[in-house]
Amino acid sequence: MNQRRPIGVFDSGVGGLTVVRALRARLPGEDIVYLGDTARVPYGSKSPRTVERYSLTCLQFLLAHDVKLVLIACNTASAQALPALIAASPVPVIGAVDPGAESALAASTGRRVGVIGTLGTVRSGAYERALTARDPATRVTALACPLLVPLAEEGWVDDDVAAAVARRYLTELFVRDPDIDTIVLGCTHYPLLRDVLARTAAALAGRPIAIVDSASAMAEAAAHALGGDVTDRRAHAGALACFATDISRLDELAPRFLGEAVTSFELVDL
Ligand code: DGL
Repeated sequence: MNQRRPIGVFDSGVGGLTVVRALRARLPGEDIVYLGDTARVPYGSKSPRTVERYSLTCLQFLLAHDVKLVLIACNTASAQALPALIAASPVPVIGAVDPGAESALAASTGRRVGVIGTLGTVRSGAYERALTARDPATRVTALACPLLVPLAEEGWVDDDVAAAVARRYLTELFVRDPDIDTIVLGCTHYPLLRDVLARTAAALAGRPIAIVDSASAMAEAAAHALGGDVTDRRAHAGALACFATDISRLDELAPRFLGEAVTSFELVDL
C-alpha cells in the first residue's frame, strides 16, 4: 500500500512552493516533502549539464524520503533534466513543461503561444517541442525574462517597477508575434506577477490574453498519476515537510510563494 508515502517536490529555491500550494489545494490529504536547492539557486542561468547534475542530487534526496511520486517544480530543471530524472527514478516523475503546454493549448484559441521563462528554459526549446508535438500548427514565441525572478523574490509584484519591467519584456514578445493569444508563465516565480503581466499583455495587445502556468496542471497530473492511490483528506490532513540547502531569507520568502506560513525548514547538505 503506497498511500501514506509522501509526494516529493523539488525546485532550485522557494519558487516551487507555488506548485506545493496547488498540490495542497488539489490533494489536501497528501503528505509532501519539499526540497529547495537554495544554496545553488539560480538554475536558470546555469548550463544544462550543471542543472542535470544538481537535479539528480535533489531526486536522490527525495527518494531517500521514500516518496511515491516526484514533481519537478522548477521549469529550468524540467526543461533540461527530465529524461535523466525519469531514467534515474523508480517512481513516476512529473515535470513542469508538459502540463504547462497542455494548459496553454486548452486556453489558446488561435494557436499563437508566448512562453516566458529563464534563459535556460528558453534556450532548451522544451516548450516549443512540447507544444508542437501536441499540435504542429502551434506557433511558439519564447522569451527569457531574467529580471522577473528577483522582482518576485523582492515582493515587487504589482508596483510601477514591476509594470515597467513587464512592459519592456512583453513589448518584445509582441514585436516577435503580434498575434499571441496565450502566454505561458514558464517559471516557478512568475505566478506571483500574474496580475501585472495579464494587465500589461492585454494593454499591449488591445485584447485579453490568456495567462497560464504549470502549477495547477501539475497538481492535476499528480492526481492522475496517483489514480486511486490518494489519501482521503477526511482521514488525514496532509503534512508538509520542507528542506533547503541554505536557509537565508526563507522565513520571509517562503510564505509569499506558499500562501501560508511554513512551520519549519530543515537545513540539509546534498
Ligand atoms: N525555479 C526556476 C524556474 O522555474 C527559477 C529560478 C532559477 O533560476 O533557479 O525556472
